[in-house]
Amino acid sequence: MHIIRHAQELRAQVRSWRERRELVGFVPTMGNLHGGHLALVDEARKRCDRVVVSIFVNPTQFSPGEDFEAYPRTFDADCQALAQLETDVVFAPPLEEVYPDGPRLRTRVEVPELNDILCGAFRPGHFTGVATVVTKLLNIVQPDLAVFGRKDYQQLMVIRTLVRDLSLPVQIVGGEIMREADGLAMSSRNQYLTAAERSRAPVLFRVLSDLAERLHTERADPAVLEAEGIEALRAAGMTPDYVSIRRADDLGHPGPGDRELVVLGAGRLGKARILDNVPVSLAEGR
Ligand code: PAF
Repeated sequence: MHIIRHAQELRAQVRSWRERRELVGFVPTMGNLHGGHLALVDEARKRCDRVVVSIFVNPTQFSPGEDFEAYPRTFDADCQALAQLETDVVFAPPLEEVYPDGPRLRTRVEVPELNDILCGAFRPGHFTGVATVVTKLLNIVQPDLAVFGRKDYQQLMVIRTLVRDLSLPVQIVGGEIMREADGLAMSSRNQYLTAAERSRAPVLFRVLSDLAERLHTERADPAVLEAEGIEALRAAGMTPDYVSIRRADDLGHPGPGDRELVVLGAGRLGKARILDNVPVSLAEGR
């Protein structure tokens, strides 16, 4: 496994794979890898001949006052885990390789419809930072396929939309959500939870799953379910940001004819912000 820090060297490597007609898969990360990331790398490995994983803690996607400085950086352990999964290249650029003029975005990539809703309403500028860095990374790596986790559902939608709208020649794959035994979705930020908060954290998945079930079996009113979800999270000691039922394909509010939906939620427990989602298909029988 090679560790490459500069875009030019990475491009030369990818070009040489291309000349041999090898398919290149890419998994962008901010490091501090857990089982969720490793499943994404596995997915890329299954589908491609070569796998590039980037590790870059992207400053432009952290809102003021968020945890950019404190974000856990565990490069050596990450590389060990990636080597075991037969990753070909870890791309770990220094800040100036990604932002030669500093992380003040003169040029931005934005998906306005998705930018300020749901998580975007609570993290100003977050999705602009994500969309911009992902576009830059895709341009640097030029993979055939890139895998992003479904846990960050809105992020996945932002990326699918920008790839389609900007005609980027890459296939986007959504990787399964990996969960702890009690249902909590794996996330680097789970380590901010104290023991007491950690024992309460699975409530988010339980509440979203319960709403999804009732949407499916009772065809209950989404607005009523959302309000109940918020109350249930509060009662369990979380500070909910939102619970929302949306169309799965574009995160719009569902109308009577919409069948493929997703129940999304996010909230705070102490220093950690946790988020999750559960898909619901109303096309299947009750
Ligand atoms: O999901 C993440 O870890 C980040 O948002 C990403 C996609 C690597 C962009 O910095």
